[in-house]
Amino acid sequence: MWKPAEKIRWQPSPGRVPDAAEVSSSILFSPLDAGRLHLRNRTWVPAMVPWRATEDGHVTPEVLDWYGRFARGKPAALVVEATGIRDVPSGPLLRIGHDRFLEGLGELTGRVRDESGGDTRLFIQLIDFLAIKRRPAPEKFFDRYLDITADHRRALSMADDSEADVRAALAAMPRDDLKQVLTPREWEALTMGHRERVTDTHLPHVAELPEVLPGLFSDAALRAQKAGFDGVELHYAHAYTMASFLSATNTRTDGYGNSREGRIRLPLEVFRQVRGTVSDGFVVGARFLAHEAIDGGSTLEDVCYFAAEFARAGMDFLSLSRGGKFDDAKQPKVGATAYPYTGPSGYECMPQFISDDLGPFGRNFAATKAIRQAVRDAGFEPPVVGAGGIHNFDIAEAALQDGVADVIAAARQSLADPDWFRKLETGHGRDIRLCEYTNYCEGLDQNHKQVTCKLWDRVGLDEPGILKSSDGKRRLTPPDWSPE
Ligand SMILES: Cc1cc2nc3c(=O)[nH]c(=O)nc-3n(C[C@H](O)[C@H](O)[C@H](O)COP(=O)(O)O)c2cc1C
Ligand code: SF4
Repeated sequence: MWKPAEKIRWQPSPGRVPDAAEVSSSILFSPLDAGRLHLRNRTWVPAMVPWRATEDGHVTPEVLDWYGRFARGKPAALVVEATGIRDVPSGPLLRIGHDRFLEGLGELTGRVRDESGGDTRLFIQLIDFLAIKRRPAPEKFFDRYLDITADHRRALSMADDSEADVRAALAAMPRDDLKQVLTPREWEALTMGHRERVTDTHLPHVAELPEVLPGLFSDAALRAQKAGFDGVELHYAHAYTMASFLSATNTRTDGYGNSREGRIRLPLEVFRQVRGTVSDGFVVGARFLAHEAIDGGSTLEDVCYFAAEFARAGMDFLSLSRGGKFDDAKQPKVGATAYPYTGPSGYECMPQFISDDLGPFGRNFAATKAIRQAVRDAGFEPPVVGAGGIHNFDIAEAALQDGVADVIAAARQSLADPDWFRKLETGHGRDIRLCEYTNYCEGLDQNHKQVTCKLWDRVGLDEPGILKSSDGKRRLTPPDWSPE
């Protein structure tokens, strides 16, 4: 992963351990009753892909164990990983694009209900993404993938030569010259792997996204409701289709791009169709970016506008993330796919302990606070979920008191210790296993390996009944804890 040049080492701290009086007077442990969203307190585990589904997207015993373990920590809300809404192969990522996924998802909601004693509201993150290809070997690219055009022939002065000769000439060119002959997209396809964009409206399936996505999202949301989820989180963040519609880089000219109004049009249409399809009590919110962190990305003003419009449309919560784009991803190895958390915007999404002046803890707070304020100024009250480097009571409570957010989401700290909120609540704050923000977990994610935490994945490997990683070297969930 990319790292800032400053290389300042930040140290996570346990902070103050609150006593019972502080816990009961804190905002963190106070209930939230806002519209359809009723939480027993303000604690939230955001979506994290653990790479535990089957190759065809079904729930496995490992998926059940993973979410069951988070549920034993009784967060007020738990969001199931980004789950694909289409019925197309997507590797071992959960899917919800067909009724055959209902049985497994139903088991998942049952498991979370049982393990949390009904204390945890369970949401599922619904995602759509466009095609991305592996970085090709240059021989294959020139032999098979590149479409030879009149521009190539003109640049090479090979108007009448055979296509095979043009391909051979391009393959033999020095890199610097080649860059002048290929279009930027062809160069990207060669050096990074071909990636579709929402602006590729010459492709019929991209042009028609506004017609098909509302139906795909609403069908998926209805399945989520049937499977027993309390609500859905529409994934409008990071590198994926809906975030790309919102992005200032969306220059579509069909009414779904360019202006703020155009860029938010499809996200609103998707939301409205979902809202109109599910039952009245079912929660529907979205996760989107407070800051894209790429050149030419949306401004804070744009995002304040989006957030106020989402609230006006009636979203039940607004969850804010940061960065995580393909635009600045590192070049993958030949045969591998680009990963959106490897460049500077990826760093903004999951900043690690080696950082700059801003540091990894609360890096998204200023933007989140400004967006929350804009929503309040527009006259709307949906809860705002804030995230990024939150790992102790002081940081969480200060963010709530300071108006940054209404709910505290912690991803990596909850992976390091899924009982951490409960330990704080029950006076066992000293026993919290503190995340080190080294991003070992994120590295596993990047390599599509089952995600675990380095603080517990080699502990108690001989414990009876535990599930282990495919190579048998790591346990897949942390050891149990109980307050007694
Ligand atoms: C292994 C891993 C998988 C993640 N998967 C998702 C995901 O599916 N959807 C999502 O919106 N964010 C995902 N994230 C981002 C987190 O939800 C969170 O925004 C980010 O890690 C910053 O919060 P933290 O500092 O509390 O970890 C993932 C993070 C990690 C570490
Ligand atoms: S591996 Fe564990 S300690 Fe390291 S960043 Fe991930 S959750 Fe934190």
